[in-house]
Amino acid sequence: MPIFFQHQINDDTRLGIWKIEETEEFFKGNVPLHRDVTHPHKRLQHLAGRFLLQFLFPDFPYELIQIADTRKPFLPNEQYHFSISHCGDYAAAIVSRDKRVGIDVEIPVEKIGTVMYKFLTAKEHEIFSLIPGNPGINSYQEPTILWSAKEAVFKWYGDGGVDFRKQIQLLKQNEGAETIECFFSKSQSDLTIHYRRFDHLVLAWVMS
Ligand SMILES: CC(C)(COP(=O)(O)OP(=O)(O)OC[C@H]1O[C@@H](n2cnc3c(N)ncnc32)[C@H](O)[C@@H]1OP(=O)(O)O)[C@@H](O)C(=O)NCCC(=O)NCCS
Repeated sequence: MPIFFQHQINDDTRLGIWKIEETEEFFKGNVPLHRDVTHPHKRLQHLAGRFLLQFLFPDFPYELIQIADTRKPFLPNEQYHFSISHCGDYAAAIVSRDKRVGIDVEIPVEKIGTVMYKFLTAKEHEIFSLIPGNPGINSYQEPTILWSAKEAVFKWYGDGGVDFRKQIQLLKQNEGAETIECFFSKSQSDLTIHYRRFDHLVLAWVMS
């Protein structure tokens, strides 16, 4: 059971990252209901994400999951709030009994240097000491954390239609606490985004 990272945030909220080393059959045997996904690796990621929900909270009712028009999965009775992400051979999930949550996992790649101006403002480049178009050799991790942070906010919100540059404003990084302060203007929310760096992976989550 390759749980790669697990974090009990409090009594009601848990998150985990699963390193996918199992076959599709393993997950299918454990995840009774899931949507059809054509691409085999994406199907495996999807199954692993669903599997994690019950790994974190054994009474998680998979069978009640519905998908909103925005493609956000949810439980109509809100017994749990949850969010799922996958990248490469990793799947991540956060599940909470009482708070809205959003999670994102990313593998840092060089391409981030050419796209970061699309989701970060000039002010954010300044705050986080980034050079546009050139994050520097071996430092793809930092802008990827910022991308992941905004994706986590997008998923926490869940209703889509978010302008990442204008509406998700990253204000300050607290390196020791591994948090980023954020103002999400669409819902007028002050949010604290948590992040973690791993060797070839970054994780961000929001709960509020
Ligand atoms: C929908 C989106 C969040 C998916 O992200 P991704 O990097 O492709 O994939 P991830 O693996 O991290 O997340 C996929 C999971 O997110 C969840 N998800 C999908 N749509 C969602 C939504 N609107 N809200 C919350 N969660 C959502 C699902 O659980 C999905 O996994 P599943 O289908 O297996 O259950 C992303 O593609 C997206 O649209 N982001 C916004 C992009 C944008 O607006 N950019 C503009 C600025 S550049």
